[in-house]
Amino acid sequence: CPMNMRDAHGLLLSRNVPPDVLARKVTFKARNDDVLLITYPKSGTHWLWEVVSMLTRGSTTLLSDTMTHIDYFPLEVIDILPSPRVLATHMPVTQVPRDFFTRRCKMILCVRNPWDVALSFFHFVRNLQTFEYSGEWDGFFDLFLQGNVPYSSWFEHSREWLDLLSSNTNILLVLFEDMHKDLKQELARIARFLDVPMTNDLAEAIQRETTFTNMAKNKFDYTIAYSKTGVSPIFRKGKVGDSKNWFTDSQASLVEMAYHRELGENRHKLNYVTRQRTS
Ligand code: A3P
Repeated sequence: CPMNMRDAHGLLLSRNVPPDVLARKVTFKARNDDVLLITYPKSGTHWLWEVVSMLTRGSTTLLSDTMTHIDYFPLEVIDILPSPRVLATHMPVTQVPRDFFTRRCKMILCVRNPWDVALSFFHFVRNLQTFEYSGEWDGFFDLFLQGNVPYSSWFEHSREWLDLLSSNTNILLVLFEDMHKDLKQELARIARFLDVPMTNDLAEAIQRETTFTNMAKNKFDYTIAYSKTGVSPIFRKGKVGDSKNWFTDSQASLVEMAYHRELGENRHKLNYVTRQRTS
């Protein structure tokens, strides 16, 4: 496998995922008040986790904790976290621990446009020692399009989750680009969905604390230790549309075609016509 991955029953995973990760589908014990954040990698997981943690705590200091990622954290650690827990996963629908569904836990699905995800993923994989990858952009692009990357295909991941969204009122869809455009508005939607109190002051404080610049400077970054370059693998640029500087026209339209083909009617929930959301 490229990027030092392993094939876990058709799902590609990096080697630092614990061996029991797929067994967690049945062994993981959820709590009724857990909030599960679902993202494909590089879609703003760390940002959303911070924002949602601030909302549920009603406090706006950046947490010194590492994002609670249920695909990576030891279960013993997750088990003793205080409630309400804000947990993150990159798993596809079929591999998410069943207990979240049984208990009807609230889930927030955050989606970012595939052009920017591909670019962000490229830098991430090149920069982290774990992946042992030093390929160039063109080669990575092909692997991304084929779904030959950690957590497999963006297109499949998004289609499956968006399909489930149609029939499930416990899942809220949030777009990375919308958080960028108007975080306060997204905060209001999230607070309503989670049924937590929200004031204008709180929203403004969260917005101030979770800017890219502030998080890049002040958030404890556990990934720096694994960076080949000393540059943060998580806080790179935090922009919308940076992919324009990297994609050839033909690469951009290959993603566009795959997006139309694979997402089908679900693409109307996202409406990424080109690299950015247009409505
Ligand atoms: P870029 O590589 O395009 O800069 P994840 O947390 O899922 O790994 O996603 C990482 C991406 O989210 C990175 O994108 C990162 O810069 C961006 N990001 C992280 N924190 C952010 C913030 N506070 N505001 C905007 N973007 C942020």
